[in-house]
Amino acid sequence: MDHFHYKEDELYAEDVALKNVADKYGTPAFIYSKATLERHAQAYINSFKSMDGLVCFSVKALSNIAVLKTLKNSGCGFDIVSGGELHRALLAGADPKKIIFSGVGKSKGEMVAGIENNILSFNVESEHELSRLSMVAAEMKKIAPVAIRFNPNVDAGVHEFTKTGRKSDKFGVSIEAAKDLIKKCSKSASLKLVGLTCHIGSQIMELKGFEDAAKQALELLIELDRLNINLDFIDMGGGLGVNYVGEETIQPFELIESYEKIFAGRNERLILEPGRSISANAGIMLTRVEYKKNDFLIVDAAMNDLLRPALYQAHHDVWPVRKTNNATSNVSLVGPICETGDFLAKNINIEGSEGDLFAVRTVGAYGFVMSSNYNSRPRAPEIMVDNDKFYLIRKREDYSSLTALEEGLDD
Ligand code: LLP
Repeated sequence: MDHFHYKEDELYAEDVALKNVADKYGTPAFIYSKATLERHAQAYINSFKSMDGLVCFSVKALSNIAVLKTLKNSGCGFDIVSGGELHRALLAGADPKKIIFSGVGKSKGEMVAGIENNILSFNVESEHELSRLSMVAAEMKKIAPVAIRFNPNVDAGVHEFTKTGRKSDKFGVSIEAAKDLIKKCSKSASLKLVGLTCHIGSQIMELKGFEDAAKQALELLIELDRLNINLDFIDMGGGLGVNYVGEETIQPFELIESYEKIFAGRNERLILEPGRSISANAGIMLTRVEYKKNDFLIVDAAMNDLLRPALYQAHHDVWPVRKTNNATSNVSLVGPICETGDFLAKNINIEGSEGDLFAVRTVGAYGFVMSSNYNSRPRAPEIMVDNDKFYLIRKREDYSSLTALEEGLDD
């Protein structure tokens, strides 16, 4: 459930009319609902019953510091994949003991930063990464906490680009290789094995893949029991799908219930790394029509602002900010970028003309974070709505921000 709704035909975010936000900050603009973010974080946090749980919001989904602060205050930790995301999480005031570092390509510098800041765990994805981490920690005379990411070889049944748990994907190691890495950890004086982790993909609409992966994790835990190897946590990653086109989704409590059934009787803590299911429906993008041309509404937002439709042919619902009773079918919402692939929505039923405002929905995850300056378009601002108030949490870029880092301007 989110907090975007109509009051007398005007679209609101919580108690703020979106028209007022557009008047104040212009378009395109990303708007987030604080109440929705908090509600979704609580939907996870309050669902742990028999297991001790930790929800590490996946920063890659939406990384604005104000958002991270909101989620931190709701009790979340963070799943990060870069030094930049560590920087953001720390700026938001995150407890380092609630930060886990995922990703296949951690650099030495990123390892040093994670160790210096005493993060909860490095989720290690290969033998070479484990050796590097051991060496970096030894040089620092520190002990690095490690969770091994195993690849359960399950197909999450999602878009080809967002499957991560098949043998052929670049992520994690096979169960057999995980056992070897676990043994290596116990032999290294600079590594401490603290967990087991996996993540099978994103926008997943069925429990089966999650359950298959959890059952494999359980088998491995039982084998480790026999070797007297104890772990602090099992981290099942993120991946829960959200409603983009009215699909039925799995609720966080159902997912957690199913994990708690599989891991019944275990003492490890259960960590989850949701991104999309916390932030996607907490965000909309406001855009205004520049021109109407045949069946196209040419708006002021483009693929540089929201890449998902162009990259994945993803569908995002589009709602008029002022509801009308007219709707023309087969309208496409396209941007000003010089590519045919630059569209936000295709063949939808809406009515619009120059100056009309629209809200592109479900863009709070993998929306602003995937935006770019393509076609030298300054990035849109981000705005947080909190009850009947709204405030800027990232300014609109201007032309000087586009060129600020460029050098050699003298002849
Ligand atoms: N943990 C790991 C290790 C991940 O790689 C991801 C996402 C997550 C957690 C969070 O997954 P979520 O709960 O958000 O599904 N750009 C794509 C999605 C890429 C997801 C990458 N990894 C999109 O727009 O659909």
